[in-house]
Amino acid sequence: MSDNCLTIAVDGPAASGKGTLSRRLARHFGLAYLDTGSLYRAAALKALDNNVALDDEAAVAALAETFEAELLDDPRLRERGVGEAASRIAGLTEVRNALLTFQRKVAYSAPGAVLDGRDIGTVVCPDAQVKLFVTASVDERARRRHKEMAEKDPMVTLTDIKADILRRDARDSSRDAAPLLQATDAHLLDTTNLDIETAMNAAVSLINSVLAEKR
Ligand code: DC
Repeated sequence: MSDNCLTIAVDGPAASGKGTLSRRLARHFGLAYLDTGSLYRAAALKALDNNVALDDEAAVAALAETFEAELLDDPRLRERGVGEAASRIAGLTEVRNALLTFQRKVAYSAPGAVLDGRDIGTVVCPDAQVKLFVTASVDERARRRHKEMAEKDPMVTLTDIKADILRRDARDSSRDAAPLLQATDAHLLDTTNLDIETAMNAAVSLINSVLAEKR
């Protein structure tokens, strides 16, 4: 952490709205933005494409260290199967370690960054100046994710998506390696009944008041 660098950590479960919010917060505060879930998705996609077993920790970690940056723009990253595979490899300590240096480089380069993920406030950037934990009810998260997915795959049902989310929540929260946890100094933002504008206004005032207190 340095004086000319502002790091904002945004954690929360799948489809809580943290991605949209973080991207907009980065724009608002003039910071870089990193969707850390896309790193896990890219490593998972690389493993799937190369027929590497998702439980082969050393092999998946090697892929996580070396995948091409262009892979982060691959539309296949958003597919359901890739999300599921990402959640599985995210339980492997060597894979998490392989992705740490890149995440910290982005977080601590001036003028700073907004990072969203599961362990940003707890492990990646424990000294971030501001930490948010964004959540929403399971039904609302399933509804949002279904709306997004149904545009690409009209056959996918709300029941399927809710089951995916529950399974991923359980896996992301119960794993030994950097589980999804609200940092003790993170501010909770429940977006269940908030549209994006209202959530954004709430997040901006929260961040401004935390920064004002630190000055
Ligand atoms: O946020 P997402 O759905 O794109 O993340 C995909 C998976 O990656 C998710 O199931 C958990 C994992 N992940 C993680 O373990 N730590 C992060 N900082 C970000 C994502």
